[in-house]
This record gives sequence, structure tokens and C-alpha cells, in this order.
Amino acid sequence: MTTDSRATPFDDPTAEEAAQAVGVEVRPVAGHIGAEIGGVDLAAGLDDARVAVIRAALLRWKVVFFRGQRLDHAGHVAFARRFGEPVVLRGRGSASPADFPEIETTADRLELGGRFGMEHEEWLRRRRHTLLRGWHCDHGARVDPPAATILRAETVPPYGGDTTWSNLAAAYAGLSAPVREFVAGLRAEHRLGVGYQPRPGDDAYVRHLLDHQVASVHPLVRVHPETGERVLYVNGYYVEQITDLSRAESRAILDMLLEEATRPEYTVRFRWEPGSVAFWDNRATIHLAPSDNAHLGFPRTMHRVMLTGDIPVGADGRPSAPVTGTEPGRW
Ligand SMILES: [Fe+2]
Repeated sequence: MTTDSRATPFDDPTAEEAAQAVGVEVRPVAGHIGAEIGGVDLAAGLDDARVAVIRAALLRWKVVFFRGQRLDHAGHVAFARRFGEPVVLRGRGSASPADFPEIETTADRLELGGRFGMEHEEWLRRRRHTLLRGWHCDHGARVDPPAATILRAETVPPYGGDTTWSNLAAAYAGLSAPVREFVAGLRAEHRLGVGYQPRPGDDAYVRHLLDHQVASVHPLVRVHPETGERVLYVNGYYVEQITDLSRAESRAILDMLLEEATRPEYTVRFRWEPGSVAFWDNRATIHLAPSDNAHLGFPRTMHRVMLTGDIPVGADGRPSAPVTGTEPGRW
């Protein structure tokens, strides 16, 4: 029986040998996306060879998972720095550690919703009222969205609370040739707060959105700056309208593209444990935060570091453009 070379964790045999040489195991967990990486202790620091293996696995599998790690905040930031420049946010959730401005901590029920005069759950429901709206890349309305996100689990519920990612390069490749060609020339406006369902009467979150508008025009098909792959650059959370199309045309085409982008075969779902780390390519994936755990009442505490990213460039060679509230490199 012959083994197809694609059955190995990497398409490139040199990358495979490099991983073996340093004892790093890359185990894909789904057909198009996601690999668990074993044989590395992230807290011990990484040499260049291990960094190269992890980077290759990330580019190939779009999200990589590590289990049983014992990273603290300093170790988390140090790990992130091996792969890029951590983002320092001006505003962070109240549970974030004061001494580590690169880390944003999300602790359920302590989050943003409370600031806007409603329970966090209601706020989430108003933001993610349809199945596809929850799918997003991090800070996708910026003109230069983060290149990657590294999320570390501290406390997780005993069940529920999984995160799901989808591979947008696979989604693009899966479109028919005429549709690939059609969408490659299009651009879309991405805007924070699109589709938020306001509360009746005065809604503090609507006022907040109006005071803090963030919007950019991104290509609908982005060329990945490292792999050269074409990426179907859509998400349910930020994309407002395909430029130059009518509202009706845009809605129908976006719905179709989003449905393609979130086909189960392009996704992977991760069951968190304390000490789990997920590291994803925010340029080639969208993800869905869990919505099946809030009602259970179990605590869930996660720490996030993002890496700064480039301005996307379309298949037509044109870069994204800011519309409002976003400047390259300014957070
Ligand atoms: Fe996210």
C-alpha cells in the first residue's frame, strides 16, 4: 500500500524532517485545518528550529493546539514574541493583568456587556443573533487586522465552551472556478457593530459604536502574505456590504460565501483543558466563540495575545483602505 505524501503533516518533506529532528510532533486533527503539536514545552522557551517547525505547522494547518502547557503571563508574551510583535490594546477587559499590557483576559460574566447596562448574555445575543454572525477574525474592521492570535486557557468548564475555526483558503479553493474568478475582483466594507440588534429605546452599546466607529474596505479575496494562498476574506461579524453591488446582490452573495466559508469540512473544533493553547493564523481563518456554556454557570478564563498584522492585499494587487477609526500600526 502506498501512502500519499499529503497524508503527512506537511506537504514539504524538509519541514517533516525538521520537525522530527527536534522531536516535535505535528498531528493533524481534521482534514483541512488544525493540528496538535506535541513534544514542546512552551514555558521552557523555544530555539529557532522549534520556532520554524511551529511556524510551518501554523501556515499549513492554520490553527495549532498545544496541551498541558504551564505558561504564565510572562511566558505567554515571550512565546508570542518569537513569532511577531504583540499588540498592545488601549482598552482591555477589566479582568486583564495590569502588568502585562499585551494580554487581554476574558472571564465570563465580567465582560463588556455589563458596561452597557445589560447582562453579558443579552449583549452576546444581540451581536450574534444569526448562526453565521458569530464567525469572525479578530479585529477584522481594522485596516491591518492582527496576523495571529494566541489564546491560553486557564479555567474551562467541564463541558461546553469549545471554539471552532474554519480554513478560508480551503473555502476559496472549494468554490467553482467561475465564482472564484468573480469574487477575486470584489471588495467589501468591514465595520464594527454591523448587524447589532439594538435594544428598544436608548441603547448604550449603540451610542458606544457611534462614538467608536471602525471600518475598512478589504478585498474579498486576500493573498496570504506568507503562503501566497488565496483566502476567501469574509466573516459574519464585520462584513457590511460588497462594494459596488446593490444591497440585495451583496446580501445574497455574502450569505452564499459565508455558508461556503463555514462548511463543516473546513472546520475544526477544539475542546479546551486548563493549560491548552491555541495559536491561529488570523489572516486565513475565522472562528466562532462558544455560546453553549454561559447558561451552565461554570467559570471560563482565557488569556489572549495577538500579533500585529499587515494591510491585506487583494488578488488584484490592491491593498485594503481605511474608512474610519483605523490607522495602520496604531492601536
Ligand atoms: Fe475572536
